[in-house]
Amino acid sequence: MDRIRIIGGNKLHGTIPISGAKNAALPLMIAAMLTDETLILDNVPRLADVAQLQRILGNHGVDIMAAGKRPGDHEYQGQTLHISAKNIIDTTAPYELVSKMRASFWVIAPLLARMHEAKVSLPGGCAIGTRPVDLLIMALEKLGAELSIDAGYVVAKAPGGLKGATIEFPKVTVSGTHVALMAATLARGTTIIANAACEPEITDVADCLNKMGAKITGAGTPRILIEGVAKLHGARHTVLPDRIETGTYAMAVAMTGGEVQLSGARPELLQSALDVLTEAGATITVNNDGIRVARNGAGISPVTVSTAPFPGFPTDLQAQLMALMTRAKGASHITETIFENRFMHVQELARFGARIQLDGETATIDGVARLRGAPVMATDLRASVSLVIAALAAEGETMVNRIYHLDRGFERLEEKLSACGASIERISG
Ligand code: UD1
Repeated sequence: MDRIRIIGGNKLHGTIPISGAKNAALPLMIAAMLTDETLILDNVPRLADVAQLQRILGNHGVDIMAAGKRPGDHEYQGQTLHISAKNIIDTTAPYELVSKMRASFWVIAPLLARMHEAKVSLPGGCAIGTRPVDLLIMALEKLGAELSIDAGYVVAKAPGGLKGATIEFPKVTVSGTHVALMAATLARGTTIIANAACEPEITDVADCLNKMGAKITGAGTPRILIEGVAKLHGARHTVLPDRIETGTYAMAVAMTGGEVQLSGARPELLQSALDVLTEAGATITVNNDGIRVARNGAGISPVTVSTAPFPGFPTDLQAQLMALMTRAKGASHITETIFENRFMHVQELARFGARIQLDGETATIDGVARLRGAPVMATDLRASVSLVIAALAAEGETMVNRIYHLDRGFERLEEKLSACGASIERISG
């Protein structure tokens, strides 16, 4: 199994190109199943989760062609996928495939909307809390589907097609909103999604669906209105930049000190995180090419932060912020409100000498002057990268084990960081 070795202590200087957002690319690829014409997606990140979803879609009969490089493309350019779901030959998404990635469960929406039936294994994915799918099932039932659970599979049918409805989510859910949105595009009549997630990836998917002929308004607000259409057609869409990758590298720079240009980043996608970084002592400058992050001289100031749905501070940056705060001058408080059990990184950060106390949903981090490198283990996707951030500032060597989690969500992480002066290498085998 691959590992990553990091020798801490180097400041980061240079440019990091920001990739397309994983959390937009996955639902966009799934949305391609809503039409029998070709959807072309640009700026798709080269990630293990994307490759896994290609296999899952392939199993339904979807053809995916990855375009080769063109003259002028630089090495980090995302890939262009041509996705054609002309013939859906299988409406079952088997356990062996779905269990590896939670978001693949979302194929249930286009399968039901277009084929009027689906049999999808209950999902797996990151081990952060229970992560149920009850609200996704509720949304599809509102749209007229009949669902039952049989031997670990959700079996769904909508013999006469889906019908528009009002879906009010009792809590904000990204997965629920994606599924309701995709399914409603081909439902008869009008659908209203109330208390919808406002995450930028929802807006990106809605923009793409509208290019495909859907009639969606209000995406990016808590109330989305969808007028169902009989058919969607092909389109071309560029995946928006990854705000979590952007925030992760911004925190890495705040941790090590130095100055890095995050090329292609869009500040409005992560304003709350940029505000927290400013409070912590980083200097954030927005320019034509993205965001410039610097910390020169000043120490790291402690912060008090709660995760919240967009536009609040993202849960997907919680672990990275905690790593940063391990070296703050004073006590920080971080409260996780979205997922239970999303504190697996706490034990691993303690191996560097971090002082963190957990009390229910809140972690109190007493900053220490020094971290020491240690062997650590990646647990989930975002927790893994928090260990990398700690290691970059720790004295001596850190070996990060089980890095397949990193490969699920961070494109060429070690190349991007070493190009900015970090001592980081992948050890294969
Ligand atoms: C998505 C993101 C993930 C991010 C999360 C929150 C993708 C591929 N993943 O995950 O990176 O951390 O949003 O921003 O986009 N819930 C229920 N019942 C349901 C569905 C969800 O109770 O049927 C709960 C979850 O357990 C959680 C909360 O709702 O406590 C939010 O989950 P949700 O927004 O749906 O997260 P995901 O879409 O799974």
